[in-house]
Amino acid sequence: MSFKIPYGKQCISEEDTSAVIEALHSDFLTQGPKILEFEKNFAAYIGSKFAVAVSNGTAALHLPLLAIGLKSGDRIITTPITFAASANAARYCGAEVYFADIDSDTYVISIDSVKALLQKHPKGFFKAIVPVDFTGYPVNLEEIKKLANEYGLFVLEDACHSPGGYFKDSKGVNQNCGNGVYAEAAAFSFHPVKHIASGEGGMITTNNEGLYKKLMMLRTHGITKENMLLDFPEADKQGLWYYEMQELGYNYRITDIQAALANSQLKRAEQGIKKRQEIAAKYRTAFANTKIKMQAEHTNHFNAYHLFVIEVDTRKELYDFLKENGIFAQIHYVPVHLMPYYKQFGWKEGDFPNAEAYYKRCISLPMYPTLTNEEQEHVINKVKQFINIL
Ligand SMILES: Cc1ncc(COP(=O)(O)O)c(C=O)c1O
Repeated sequence: MSFKIPYGKQCISEEDTSAVIEALHSDFLTQGPKILEFEKNFAAYIGSKFAVAVSNGTAALHLPLLAIGLKSGDRIITTPITFAASANAARYCGAEVYFADIDSDTYVISIDSVKALLQKHPKGFFKAIVPVDFTGYPVNLEEIKKLANEYGLFVLEDACHSPGGYFKDSKGVNQNCGNGVYAEAAAFSFHPVKHIASGEGGMITTNNEGLYKKLMMLRTHGITKENMLLDFPEADKQGLWYYEMQELGYNYRITDIQAALANSQLKRAEQGIKKRQEIAAKYRTAFANTKIKMQAEHTNHFNAYHLFVIEVDTRKELYDFLKENGIFAQIHYVPVHLMPYYKQFGWKEGDFPNAEAYYKRCISLPMYPTLTNEEQEHVINKVKQFINIL
């Protein structure tokens, strides 16, 4: 039996296909009712008051920072172990990106590193923080929010990996990733490897109505038909066609075709999370008491398992060995501060020892709901075979 197993993959059902076909035959390919329907359902799933669908997860990170007026001369904090977009969003606004090291066991931004970074600078030095629920492991946003309140930071949760994840706060309440209780806004991605796939697509969730209205406007060029200024020649003679561009926004719209697909996928989100938990549990049992290190588990943090990461001493060799056996593992991520683009700002090797040590050893094993038992067995056997060889 020959295998070809990716690290992540979308799952498209007959229902999904029908939903897309229906959208294709409807009156609207974009700017139609499917978008609002998806936004409402997604907000209900996450538990936020508002949701704004956008063209991708990167746009979902960019718009909230734009909305708060982040600009050249401002600074934000994020983690080096993330996809470049978490940092790039601030660069699009002209702001500088600072990094705080990760926790070596959970792999998400370390609260102590954030605290140390904040204490090194005067209050007001940083405008925002972008914590990332890396792999689907929810950052303790209650802790982040305490610091944010003390230092005046806007909290934008990068929840691209974590729809369906939650952490238990100090009151014992489960707080869903992206629900807006401890962060002003959160960003999600619907790239095919993510929990919900729409090809390209993203979502911003927030509980702040003012921010929501601004995001809706910025998503479509800064154009609005609400609260118009009407500072226009013969304003009283303008009809229903009239609109105003009040700010410089973007075309970050999602299409109705994508929203229809994502909305249909959302119906299976819970099922997908359950399957991801089962796959993770099986990996954990298989690799317990071996020299493989796995991401920490905490009863207060429910991991949505976008990724299943392990650490080994001989990562490159394992990666190559798995590839020879039809298993296409992946590395998440090359640390952002060591990207040539970010090095120009002075970041260098040695700046974030935990992140760099993690990067040398990490590898993401296949994790997606349609991974079969037989395929997972093959992955487990090959990893074990490799570990025993050495
Ligand atoms: C943590 C994280 N943030 C942001 C993004 C950007 O999302 P998108 O690819 O939809 O723009 C991704 C996607 O890979 C991601 O993994």
